[in-house]
Amino acid sequence: MAPKLKTTFACQNCGAQSPKWVGRCPSCGEWNTYIEEVLVREKPQSVVLSLGNNNQPKRLQEVSDEKTERIDTCNQELNRVLGGGLVPGSMVLIGGEPGIGKSTLVLQLALDLRGKKILYVSGEESIQQIKIRARRLQKENENCFFLSETSLENILAHSRNMGPDLLIVDSIQTVSTEVIESTPGSVGQIRECTNAILKYAKEDRVPVLLIGHITKDGNLAGPKVLEHIVDTVLQFEGENQYMYRILRAIKNRFGSTSELGIFEMGNLGLREVSNPSELLISRDHDGLSGTAVSASIEGVRPLLIEIQALVSTAAYGTPQRSSTGFDLRRLNMLLAVLEKRAGFKLATKDVFLNIAGGIKVDDPGIDLAVISAILSSNFDRSIAKHLCFAGEVGLSGEIRPVNRLEQRIAEAEKLGFEQIFIPRIGSKINLKRYNIAVEQVGRVDEFFRKIFVQK
Ligand code: TYD
Ligand code: MG
Repeated sequence: MAPKLKTTFACQNCGAQSPKWVGRCPSCGEWNTYIEEVLVREKPQSVVLSLGNNNQPKRLQEVSDEKTERIDTCNQELNRVLGGGLVPGSMVLIGGEPGIGKSTLVLQLALDLRGKKILYVSGEESIQQIKIRARRLQKENENCFFLSETSLENILAHSRNMGPDLLIVDSIQTVSTEVIESTPGSVGQIRECTNAILKYAKEDRVPVLLIGHITKDGNLAGPKVLEHIVDTVLQFEGENQYMYRILRAIKNRFGSTSELGIFEMGNLGLREVSNPSELLISRDHDGLSGTAVSASIEGVRPLLIEIQALVSTAAYGTPQRSSTGFDLRRLNMLLAVLEKRAGFKLATKDVFLNIAGGIKVDDPGIDLAVISAILSSNFDRSIAKHLCFAGEVGLSGEIRPVNRLEQRIAEAEKLGFEQIFIPRIGSKINLKRYNIAVEQVGRVDEFFRKIFVQK
């Protein structure tokens, strides 16, 4: 009689385990995420108590404080997000929705890295497909080796054998090990494979780039566990229909998480965008109502973005509110402030809001530009195109201070704006040193008169 298979139920979201099926994960609270997984594990060898190896407890003083060496990725935006380059032996996860350009990004990186040996393992595409993409990118690199493989054991064997300077695995969800019998992509498999690759990375001091899929709701597919294991989590995001892609650090053991890299997807792959503000704003909307430019901050980078609003009388009973790239609840809040604190009648209007370029913005500093665009569309009066805005709007209609104001002003000045509206800040910043006119505003109702082009 065959021995009974040992099984366990594992949450596909957070990796919690339970001996029996449960509807709602007690650990992460998600519903219907438990799936039965077969566990066939070799018995762990008993722990041997020996001090044979040279890994000893040390005082911090004894640890040499050499600077972590970094591998230059030959890609300024990627270097920036990583905190200055790849750290040997580190494991970086790049997550993103299908089709966003993850494979393109890593392939470009692999083909651009000169003088380094690279092993690019793909479980998703055949080598022919990769070749077609490389031809499209018009790049070649004779030190780059490709392997179409999904077995963890084979991948590690090839990598040990070859000793690359960088290992790329596209994607971790396709890799599986024989040790566990559950299907590829399940939490058990992902955890096991990532841990094995991590062990290899640390032992051989090989940096590893893992690609991970993202579920529809924006989480890294299944494995929250993955985020804990790897050193760095980068998220690649953007709207498929638009060309801009933002690479954001969500976690970084070797750098800051407020950096972000901006790319543009074109015919020849991803292009680094070092001057995003110039691309995101169009200057030819002269005379059109409903657009306002915000001096915003993404991470630590100043970014000028164009807000577009359309306000029209609701054709059917309930007015519609819709927004792209901006939080809908925040839009509703701003509309309520305009209605209640400044007396604008917007309750019966449809309001559509769009952030140009398909980027998503979290910065509350764009509030002022959002209400400006809404009022501009509502009155059908255009905003002078040399104006720019930065400020958060509070519930009582006050315009609140925002972070990195000097950077915002400087960026607006750099791009040739002539006047910027900012929150009232008193004399904290020396405003005289700017060529751009800086106007401080305190409340929503006092400010809007100044922004429209006189008819
Ligand atoms: P891909 O990198 O395969 O995305 P992912 O690995 O994240 O699923 O490709 C993303 C899309 O980019 C694909 O639909 C085709 C497009 N693309 C370009 O527009 N230009 C290019 O040069 C390349 C290589 C791809
Ligand atoms: Mg891919």
